[in-house]
Amino acid sequence: MARKPIIAGNWKMNNTASEGAELVKALKPLVKDAKCEVVVCVPAIDIPAVKKAIHGSKIRLGAQNVHFAEKGAYTGEISAKMLKEYGVQYVIIGHSERRAYFGETDETVNKRTLAALNAGLTPIVCIGESLEEREGGLTEKVLDRQISIDFQGIEDFSKIVIAYEPIWAIGTGRTATDEQANETIGYIRKRMKKVYAHKNVGRLRIQYGGSMNAKNAKGLMAQPEIDGGLIGGASLKAEDFAKVVNFDK
Ligand code: PGA
Repeated sequence: MARKPIIAGNWKMNNTASEGAELVKALKPLVKDAKCEVVVCVPAIDIPAVKKAIHGSKIRLGAQNVHFAEKGAYTGEISAKMLKEYGVQYVIIGHSERRAYFGETDETVNKRTLAALNAGLTPIVCIGESLEEREGGLTEKVLDRQISIDFQGIEDFSKIVIAYEPIWAIGTGRTATDEQANETIGYIRKRMKKVYAHKNVGRLRIQYGGSMNAKNAKGLMAQPEIDGGLIGGASLKAEDFAKVVNFDK
């Protein structure tokens, strides 16, 4: 079965609830004929307003993080069940900003991923190397570590999405070349098949993320290993994001 492309916007800490609702209202008609899955991952407090605004469209709702416990004394955190009740279907986990600024580790990424799956959410798990690691020839080693820890205990990889995001390409305007992204994602797929054999890795979707935009989306999406994109900056304007979503038009 072919892997269905998935384009997800990561708004990060942008857009109030009313701004977010306006954005998706503008986006709706522009993506109505999209063949790929279209997701917006919004700040948690925007979820109710965006859910209302996307009603009747193809756009699906995603969050940007989830806690691993079902409930309890975790001030400031949000559980998978809370997201689920609001119709959230996807959740970004282990974004490099969370790893760099909020102490997220491979172990917590793994726990959050399992909690999301348990609640019936689709995790979009971010992995990728820093510039220093790439230049030091450590890309595969870093990916191997993330792969071996972040995905432990997962039984069916058709239920998750991986976003390969080289940290040096995020928000820098420095995209990986089509070939670089394809090659590294090909490596991730090969490694996943080896480490998680017989767990439906054939249906695992792997996105590219890092300065993907209206201009470079077509080239990246034409690569055989790349199943979609996780879009930061270019998801903040309806027209720009729609161009990425409509990469095949
Ligand atoms: P960017 O962000 O598209 O702004 O580089 C991507 C991401 O961090 O998910």
